[in-house]
Amino acid sequence: MPSVSAHPDVMEKLVSLAKRRGFIFQSSEIYGGTGSVWDYGPLGVELKKNVKDRWWHAMVRARDDIEGLDAAILMHPRVWEASGHVAGFTDPLVDCRNCKRRFRADDPAIKGTPGAPDAQCPVCGSKGTLSEPRLFNLMFKTFMGPVEESASVVYLRPETAQGIFVNFLNVQQSTRQKIPFGIAQIGKAFRNEITPGNFIFRTREFEQMEMQFFVEPGTDEEHFEYWKAQRMEWHRALGLSPERLRYKPHEQLAHYARAAADIEFDFGGSLGFQEIEGIHNRSDFDLGRHQEYSGKKLEFFDQPNNRRFIPYVIETSVGADRTTLALLVNAYREEEVPGESEGRTVLGLAPSIAPIKAGVFPLVKKDGMPEIAQRIADDLRRAFPVFYDDGGAIGRRYRRQDEVGTPFGITVDGQSTQDGTVTVRDRDTLQQVRVAADQLRGYITERVTVT
Ligand code: GAP
Repeated sequence: MPSVSAHPDVMEKLVSLAKRRGFIFQSSEIYGGTGSVWDYGPLGVELKKNVKDRWWHAMVRARDDIEGLDAAILMHPRVWEASGHVAGFTDPLVDCRNCKRRFRADDPAIKGTPGAPDAQCPVCGSKGTLSEPRLFNLMFKTFMGPVEESASVVYLRPETAQGIFVNFLNVQQSTRQKIPFGIAQIGKAFRNEITPGNFIFRTREFEQMEMQFFVEPGTDEEHFEYWKAQRMEWHRALGLSPERLRYKPHEQLAHYARAAADIEFDFGGSLGFQEIEGIHNRSDFDLGRHQEYSGKKLEFFDQPNNRRFIPYVIETSVGADRTTLALLVNAYREEEVPGESEGRTVLGLAPSIAPIKAGVFPLVKKDGMPEIAQRIADDLRRAFPVFYDDGGAIGRRYRRQDEVGTPFGITVDGQSTQDGTVTVRDRDTLQQVRVAADQLRGYITERVTVT
């Protein structure tokens, strides 16, 4: 496929770095792996947690008009009838009767029209073995309780949003919030994607960070514009390069949507610009449907005007994993180092989201330097994650931290044993400054904290 992006394709290098350095592993790898499911290793879990914390802070803690929620994954099966997922959350698929593979009906690799005698399977190459397209629901089904029968079918939620809708009145009444206000949550979602791939870009188990903002009908357009701008700003503040971000308005709207736009990030190579977040004006569709299916009123009582109405909803929905991937792609660079024969690989992550904030190194393993360095590492560890490393040449140790995005390298040298100062090396500029060891905690904290 021709490249659609001016940025290089770094995915293969990232997959390898992510495994080698403990960011992301294939799920159940020793058994040959589980398709499109990934596990986060020690550094990956820190990175993704930092992303989620930043979202939670911006959307919940720093505002007085959004409340947090953590709804269960398993919900009453009627929820998914009301939401439209049972009837409509489908992809048209075709099966090959010969090799038993399954494809999306619109897979460009299929030659001919599926179902016709000349249609050719893109994997085994047989002709006439592809079935007519059938609709396939993407929700994972399981059974609740001891009996495996249709009456006990439940679904793994394919989005977190419905947990917010069904709790609308619980949250509004318990917090006494007035319209406009929002409910936010972070949680796992599951989709039996047929064409998953591109590492953690499209997976079958993933985390969403969703917020539903409940507004008075008629004010929805201005709230939609406000949230579009806010969310773009959040991605930029996280460190994604502005020129790799853009809006993509939806040309075809879902039947309930009054407006929708994606925020897209340029992943480079042939993947190019892809959605990382959706912002939707969902009208009163969701609360209206849940009111209809549950038989319970889901109206807001506007006391001053003594009237009741079903609020409109502006939704912001972003994937924690997809944002993490965007950050890794955005941060990855290979560069020459002036005056050195060996180049280096750097993850230029914003210091606030980097998994490790500082590497701590004794220059040599003698003359009391390891003891001082250990004491410094123990002290700093109480404030943020640090990594102590006394193995190998100092240049190597710096490189190992550059590769995982650690913004600062602290070195204890001969002078440290005399005057209590250490060198602090900046990952990006390679500049080194001397800082008193007892000032280090404040020095680093100031540079890794977002205010
Ligand atoms: N409640 C609306 C909703 O779920 P969506 O566009 O289907 O909207 C929102 O999903 C976000 O969730 C996407 O922009 C993406 O970041 C993430 N997402 C969706 N499906 C995903 C998958 N299979 N793997 C990883 N992330 C996914």
